[in-house]
Amino acid sequence: MTEKFEKTISDKKATLTIGEKSYEFSIFGGSVGPDVIDIRSLYAQTDHFTYDPGFTSTASCESTITYIDGDKGELLYRGYPINQLAENSDFMEVSYLLLNGELPSQEEKDKFVNDITYHTMVHDQLNRFFSGFRRDAHPMAIMCGVVGAMSAFYHDNQDISDPEQRKIASYRLIAKIPTIAAMAYKYSVGQPFVYPRNDLNYAENFLHMTFGVPQCEDKKVNPILADAMDKIFILHADHEQNASTSTVRLAGSSGANPFACIAAGIASLWGPAHGGANEACLNMLEEIGTVDRIPEFVAKAKDKNDPFRLMGFGHRVYKNFDPRATVLQESAHKVLKELNIDDPLLDVAMELERIAREDPYFIEKKLYPNVDFYSGIILKAMGFPTSMFTVLFALARTVGWISQWSEMIVDPTQKIGRPRQLFTGSTERKYKDINNR
Ligand code: SDX
Repeated sequence: MTEKFEKTISDKKATLTIGEKSYEFSIFGGSVGPDVIDIRSLYAQTDHFTYDPGFTSTASCESTITYIDGDKGELLYRGYPINQLAENSDFMEVSYLLLNGELPSQEEKDKFVNDITYHTMVHDQLNRFFSGFRRDAHPMAIMCGVVGAMSAFYHDNQDISDPEQRKIASYRLIAKIPTIAAMAYKYSVGQPFVYPRNDLNYAENFLHMTFGVPQCEDKKVNPILADAMDKIFILHADHEQNASTSTVRLAGSSGANPFACIAAGIASLWGPAHGGANEACLNMLEEIGTVDRIPEFVAKAKDKNDPFRLMGFGHRVYKNFDPRATVLQESAHKVLKELNIDDPLLDVAMELERIAREDPYFIEKKLYPNVDFYSGIILKAMGFPTSMFTVLFALARTVGWISQWSEMIVDPTQKIGRPRQLFTGSTERKYKDINNR
């Protein structure tokens, strides 16, 4: 298991004064990153809640999985920098790392890959769920429905207190999510589903199931595209306590089964402010259309009265560059060169990035291109429709979600998540008969 640093109790205390009274709270330190003030007894001691919509200053849990330093633009999976993993590792090895806390030996990796490979097939009756959707259904709607429906097929591993059952459920989700994602695409284009192949690696298998055509031709997967796909999966695999991961943890805190929790994470990721930003970013680039229209959109983004935001820019944590965007920028150029694509949208994207980096508004608000800015360009070049972009994000993030879910389940401090509120509604009043309203 991963090297765990016991949290330290600082000799400093946090003192809160309300009126004439003062209250003291312990301060905990971790291995790296900000210390935390233990306010678990705040309400009992002070009859006050904290107020933190969006949880911008709240640590919801203790974790050993992913660390982000927003100012340094640092992202570590179990301590390993994301650019080193993107350069030297592959998604299966990174999945093992996120799940278990350490990089696998060759033997451990071979066994893990074999276990995942032999779970890629879905129950044949799962296929019937697709025909209930319209052909033009958004694939994320299909993902929410079909992944949630997995709970109905795997009763034999929903005792979440049993580590072995948690492991098999985790493996089933990691293994089957590419198959279901490819099926969602095939259904949307009216092509037959393509079964997974055990002789292909995870990224190749996904591209085979998505773009292959059964029996008609034995289409070879382009290794450059498979490598770019694998990199995209690595870069999207986990990201600390973001909105969808927090959704998975909150759903799991009630004891809900892992399949239902991952379906909840998929639903949260769908939002354009989160994982839906890659699709929204490409739609925005298409709306801008040409380089000469960029200033018009930048002005809209700056206009306080205009809800328009530059999709693919800004981040709750990264107030410098997003290290994933740096890796993806290089990948984008490699893929476009390999496919010999001269995409005018990339010209718009490059010019938009240049302007945003020089514009005082974006510099002052620390709005830099994030992971979604480049992933959309690569995925479009690879032939994915924009509606599939967030599906690929969900595919990759499943291992992060299930790793965080597992960590939450075994956390001894774990309680059902139940935030409170600042109530500003009507105080008690008498019911009025309809004739007296
Ligand atoms: C992901 O959390 C994660 O880790 C997420 C993620 C992951 O891997 O899980 O990294 C994946 O979700 C990446 C983010 C993808 N979303 C987008 O690209 C959508 C566009 N970005 C914005 O919606 C926004 O930047 C957020 C939601 C990402 C972050 O918003 P914050 O931190 O809550 O910041 P904010 O909304 O309070 O904005 C701060 C200021 C505001 O101006 P003021 O009110 O201070 O005057 O910056 C402005 C905002 O108006 N601003 C933008 C902007 N983002 C913020 N202005 C124009 N364009 C933008 N994109």
